[in-house]
Parts: sequence; structure tokens; C-alpha cells
Amino acid sequence: MFPTNVFENRRILVGICGCIAAYKSCYLIRQLVTAGAQVRVMLSKSGAEFITPLTLETLSNHPVYTDMFPKNQFTATHHIELADWAEAAIIAPATANALGKAANGIADDFFSTVISALHCPTVYAPAMNTHMWENPAVKRNVDFLKENGALICNPEAGFLAEGYEGVGRLARLDYQLQYLYRACHPARDSLVGKTALISAGPTQEFLDPVRMLTNLSSGKMGYALAWEAFARGAEVVLVSGPTNLERPVDITNVAATSAADFASAVERHFPKCDIYISAAAIADYTPANVADSKIKKGKDGLTMQLRRTTDVLKMIGAKKTAEQKLIGFAVETDNPLENARKKLKRKHLDMIVLNNPHIEGAAFRSDTNFVTLLSAKQEIELEKMYKLDVAREIFNFLLDSDES
Ligand code: CTP
Repeated sequence: MFPTNVFENRRILVGICGCIAAYKSCYLIRQLVTAGAQVRVMLSKSGAEFITPLTLETLSNHPVYTDMFPKNQFTATHHIELADWAEAAIIAPATANALGKAANGIADDFFSTVISALHCPTVYAPAMNTHMWENPAVKRNVDFLKENGALICNPEAGFLAEGYEGVGRLARLDYQLQYLYRACHPARDSLVGKTALISAGPTQEFLDPVRMLTNLSSGKMGYALAWEAFARGAEVVLVSGPTNLERPVDITNVAATSAADFASAVERHFPKCDIYISAAAIADYTPANVADSKIKKGKDGLTMQLRRTTDVLKMIGAKKTAEQKLIGFAVETDNPLENARKKLKRKHLDMIVLNNPHIEGAAFRSDTNFVTLLSAKQEIELEKMYKLDVAREIFNFLLDSDES
């Protein structure tokens, strides 16, 4: 997960049903506690067959809720107090039984009673056998919950506990956290109905089949922007160079390798987008000739001819309509503000994010960044913060200047 301050002190309820994937909820709780959240755990009766309350209590630093009428613990209305306490909830794993009860308003035990009383954004991460997942009644229940505002992390395909392959495995942790980030987001619906096109990561320009020119971009800033746009309800198209990051889910992922790939992918998707954020570190030069086979070494040095690539952002700047917003990044080592202001104008941008790579904590691969946001009307220097929090500030800045 991207480190962020969004979970800090947030009250998050984790509900665990009876399913072999129940053990995976330990990792979710650990991540949330590490991110500073206050976590309460409720465990269904069948869930307690798979994982012990003691494990969950230790991880969440709080007694675990299991019974409707516990002796000498909690109050008589603790099911309602727990539902009222939660600012966001995640039911992971969610069984067909729990989904069915939630969709039909059945409250016949502690677990389903709390779910029926929840009034906060709620994520369900179903996990079950393929045939159960494909059951029309389960589909109907999931669709009903979705139509009524629930966030659903669809199960993934893979090896099931039954010994065969199929769809039904609990969504991976990053997937659950992407949805929980949306559930906890203070401006959750601020981009509903909008499409955000984001470029991220490095390019690779090949000299021969085994060698290339590339750069140090990790893609973290661009991926954080994709998470952020998703959390705000946008349709997201992420054009990414080669990175080691998990691709975000339920967005359109487009793979690009070279500057030419970025140019054609961005040009293809741009007409339908409302916002284009160019966070990729796209090469300005590429080898003029690419050898078909590996270049053998000779006695002397090697001189290589490079040619300019397309400046994708500039190309898009010339095409954009008045309604489309364009955000560029600038890495400047000399006269940073002056150069960023020039770039803002020259590339017809609505906003530019200025990075100074020499400042500690703003390095290419770091989890943090230290940037200045500039538009024609405003300039704000942000303090050093996590890239996901920088992404939130970028959208806040864009949406605020839209209103003013
Ligand atoms: N960019 C692009 N296509 C390129 C090179 C860069 O779209 N071929 C985009 C980057 O994604 C970034 C912005 O342009 O958003 C600025 O990149 P930067 O390298 O800082 O500046 P340049 O405009 O390339 O100018 P210079 O290198 O001369 O500073």
C-alpha cells in the first residue's frame, strides 16, 4: 500500500466471516494499524472456526466483537454503538451468507445485526467457491448492495481451497486497501462522472534487443494519482511504463514502454478524458537506429546518434479543449520557479507540479515528495509529504482553482 495520512485516527470496522481466507484479514488489520487507524474487529461464529479472537485482539489492540449477548463485556446495545462508531467498514472475507443477509436486511445474529445498522461507507470483499460466486442469487445480492452504495472488491481468479482453479479468491490486500482508501476519502465523490488519464513510470528506449536507455522513475507518483482519482469516483486510464508496482484495479491499465508508445496511448485516450496528468518520465531522446541483433563490442568507444522523441504533453496541450484540464510535472535544478512558470505557459497547462530532485525526500524512488503547485493564478509550496497525500493536494488545488 502507499503510505498515507488518510487512515490516521480513522475509525475502521473490519468484519470477518467464516472462510479459509479469514487468516488474510490479519494482514489487513496490521496494515491499517500501522497506517494509524483505530481498528475494531467483529468475527462471525463461523469466522471464529478459522481464526481465533486472540490473534485479532492482539493485532487490533482491542477486544473482538463476536456475541450478541457477551457476559460482563460491552453494553446491551453494543451492536448499535459499534455501527455508530465506524467511519468506514470492510467485510473481508464476505461469504455468500453474509452478502445475502446484508442485501436482504436480515439481522439474526450479532454480525448481521451490525451490518444492517451500518451507515458509513462499506466495502465488501467476497470470497467463496466459483460455483457459489456464479450463483444468480449471489450475483443479485452483490448487485443490490452495489446499487445501494456498497463498494465491492471482486474476488480474483486462481487456485481455490477445493483444489481447482476458478474465480472466488479473496481480492489481494492492495485491492482491498484501494477501496478502503476510497471509503475513507474526505472528497469521495468529487470526480464522479469525470475521466482522468494519467501517465506514470519510466520509458525504455532500446539500442539493440538487450540494451536500453531508461531513467530512475519508480511510477509511485503516477500510481498514487491513479489511486487518488479512483478514490474520488473518476473513471481512470493509467498509461504506465515498466514498474514493479501493483497495477490498480477496476481502472483501465495501458502498458507503454517507449516514448512513442506513450505518445500513441495518450493521444488515443485523450479525446474522452476531462483531466490529463502527465507524471511519466518520458525520454526526450531515443537511439536514431536500433540494431536488430546485439551490438558486439569493438576496440574503440561507441558513438551513438540520438533523435528527439515527441513531447507528448506539448502535443496534447495544442489539442486540448477549454473544458479539458492539463497537469504537467517539471523537474528543475536551476531557476526552478521561473522555469516552471515558463513551462506552464509554453505547454498550455492548467497546472504544473514542480519537483526539486536535490531536496531530501523528493527523490525519484522515495515514498515522499516535496513539490510546489503552480497555476496561472496561484502558487503553493507544500511541505514534504507522502506521494498519495501529494496526489490529494494536486486534485484539491485543481478543483479549487476550477471553482474560483
Ligand atoms: N513530457 C512529455 N513528453 C516528453 C518529455 C516530457 O510529455 N517527451 C512531460 C513529462 O511527463 C512532464 C513534463 O513533460 O509532465 C515536463 O518534463 P521535463 O523533463 O521536466 O521538461 P521538458 O519539457 O522535457 O523540458 P526540459 O527537459 O528542457 O526541462
